[in-house]
Amino acid sequence: MYIDVLTIFPEMVKLLSQWGILSRAIQGGHLNLRAINIRDFTTDKRRSTDDAPYGGGPGMVMKPEPVVKAIEYAKREREKGTAILMTPQGRRFTQEMAHLLSTHPHLILVCGRYEGIDERIRHFVDEEISIGDYVLTGGELPAFVLIDAVVRLIPGVLGNESSTREESFSTGLLEYPQYTRPQIFRDLPVPEILLSGHHKKIQEWRRQMAIQRTQERHPDLYKRYFHHHLDKEK
Ligand SMILES: C[S@@+](CC[C@H](N)C(=O)[O-])C[C@H]1O[C@@H](n2cnc3c(N)ncnc32)[C@H](O)[C@@H]1O
Repeated sequence: MYIDVLTIFPEMVKLLSQWGILSRAIQGGHLNLRAINIRDFTTDKRRSTDDAPYGGGPGMVMKPEPVVKAIEYAKREREKGTAILMTPQGRRFTQEMAHLLSTHPHLILVCGRYEGIDERIRHFVDEEISIGDYVLTGGELPAFVLIDAVVRLIPGVLGNESSTREESFSTGLLEYPQYTRPQIFRDLPVPEILLSGHHKKIQEWRRQMAIQRTQERHPDLYKRYFHHHLDKEK
């Protein structure tokens, strides 16, 4: 998969490629991650990417020309690029969207800065995504969140595909509790059932715990799961 991050801070993208699963994904040829500097598409001496808002008001606005030129450059380079604007006004990012995006051959992530972006930039992207209902200072961290969630779902990246099949949200539930050695930690024992070696009972226990946990911590998700299962039984 190709991912282009359009940003005025290309150095930030380097950080992503140096550690953990993402660096392994790059080394293993699963991910081609590139930073495209929006400033390279400016035409004035100061290489400015912002300007004052028409109509007045606080802060500066990201200019449309360099951003749109950068999107066009990224799209020209490879066919089938999907341009995504990172914005708190976009569709809320979910695990389901991460699964869907992990099948795209080329993502172009547009990172806003300043008080906002020129509205006309929206005409040149295919989608708008938010990582949650809060406002950050720039689109880079949201883009990194998206990249991290998407890349680990590309087949071959984690090395153990069943770990993404069973984890939170992928099953429609939160994940069941996990334990490792020691058997007793500060008077807290591992549940007996997990030591029983009884595979079927362990599976059932995990399913029950996942349901209980989802009901307690994420009632909306539980409701969806419950209705989905009721529908299936009909
Ligand atoms: C300070 S924010 C601008 C927010 C804008 N004034 C508004 O109210 O929608 C600057 C940039 O950070 C990014 N950003 C901030 N919060 C975000 C979020 N929750 N999800 C995705 N991108 C976000 C966007 O790229 C945005 O253009």
